[in-house]
Amino acid sequence: MKVPLLDLKAQYSTIKEDVIGAVIEVLEAQHFILGPKVEELERQVAQYSGTRWGIGVSSGSDALLISLMALNVGRGDYVITTPYTCFATAGAVARLGAIPVFADIDPKTYNIDPAWISAAAEKIPGGRLKAIIPVHLFGQCCDMDAIMEIAREYGAAVIEDAAQAIGARDGKGRHAGSAGDAGCFSFFPSKNLGALGDGGMVVTSKGDLKERLTILRAHGSSPKYFHKVIGGNFRLDAIQAAVLSVKLRRLDLWSEKRRENADLYNMLFAEAGVPVGTPYIEKGCRHIFNQYVIRAKDRDALMGFLKEKGVGAEVYYPLPMHLQECFGYLGYGEGDFPESEKAAKETLALPVYPELSAESISYVAERIKEFYAA
Ligand SMILES: Cc1ncc(COP(=O)(O)O)c(C=O)c1O
Repeated sequence: MKVPLLDLKAQYSTIKEDVIGAVIEVLEAQHFILGPKVEELERQVAQYSGTRWGIGVSSGSDALLISLMALNVGRGDYVITTPYTCFATAGAVARLGAIPVFADIDPKTYNIDPAWISAAAEKIPGGRLKAIIPVHLFGQCCDMDAIMEIAREYGAAVIEDAAQAIGARDGKGRHAGSAGDAGCFSFFPSKNLGALGDGGMVVTSKGDLKERLTILRAHGSSPKYFHKVIGGNFRLDAIQAAVLSVKLRRLDLWSEKRRENADLYNMLFAEAGVPVGTPYIEKGCRHIFNQYVIRAKDRDALMGFLKEKGVGAEVYYPLPMHLQECFGYLGYGEGDFPESEKAAKETLALPVYPELSAESISYVAERIKEFYAA
């Protein structure tokens, strides 16, 4: 049996006609960049995420970059974020000449720990903490109340990296991306809402920020050919927007299926009594399981065994940001963020995509049982 980590063909087969119809509509209109299809998606995603506006952009990475630019984060400013994330988060900060400051994670949720944010903020020279970027990792929201309180205390902005968390809600029922100044989504194909290529969106309920984001997205031009600020080409394509609108209608159903799959794994692992830690869900949170991540004894050997048995499994992430070669200039070292380092050595993502059958999940659980029985 083969169980891939993700099977996009399985999803495509269920929506093929609608996707092709949406693409043909754009082909007939010959309006490929921004325009009505992008505006429609912007309205839909803003509504879906409980915010006022969406600004469609070229990727999740660019959503982070343009949000920092719109908040005037630049050379010499400090931005606190987690070391246990996709490179894009810290990369966006560093690309602007700002200084990423890392704060360790809560070992239960893998999300940034507000106590570490406070401790990091205290050490930053007065007035130079410009922003905090919490990452709603694997599809579960961070503790936004605590993070917003720290941000208020220091006059810092909050940009939510919700690349993996569209549709997730925190313990208070707030949508991922709606609590901070800006929320950033990725439409990379492997995300719960995935495009046919790269794409992303920033959502916000702040009118001034929306204006700045819109201007920066098109080289800072306003009106056309007149530039008060330097932006970039961060535009979203109409074909991507049209297909994403088709998929957005199914997103809740797909996220529900992911949750059911996660529940089945949890049950099978508990029954089997295997030494794996299953995902912890914070009280009242709606986890959307972009990834189903276990903590496993002998992780690397288990991953090798699963691959031999035809099961796709992946490590997110093998090396925390503070230990990345390119961030050597920041002066961090091994042992600085113990929980992130531990998670990088112990965690493993298993297939959880919506179309996964119960038989496939049982097969994965059985192989894991077999590995630990040996
Ligand atoms: C947490 C996180 N932030 C940012 C990104 C960047 O998104 P993209 O790949 O769309 O640039 C991703 C996805 O790859 C991500 O998982």
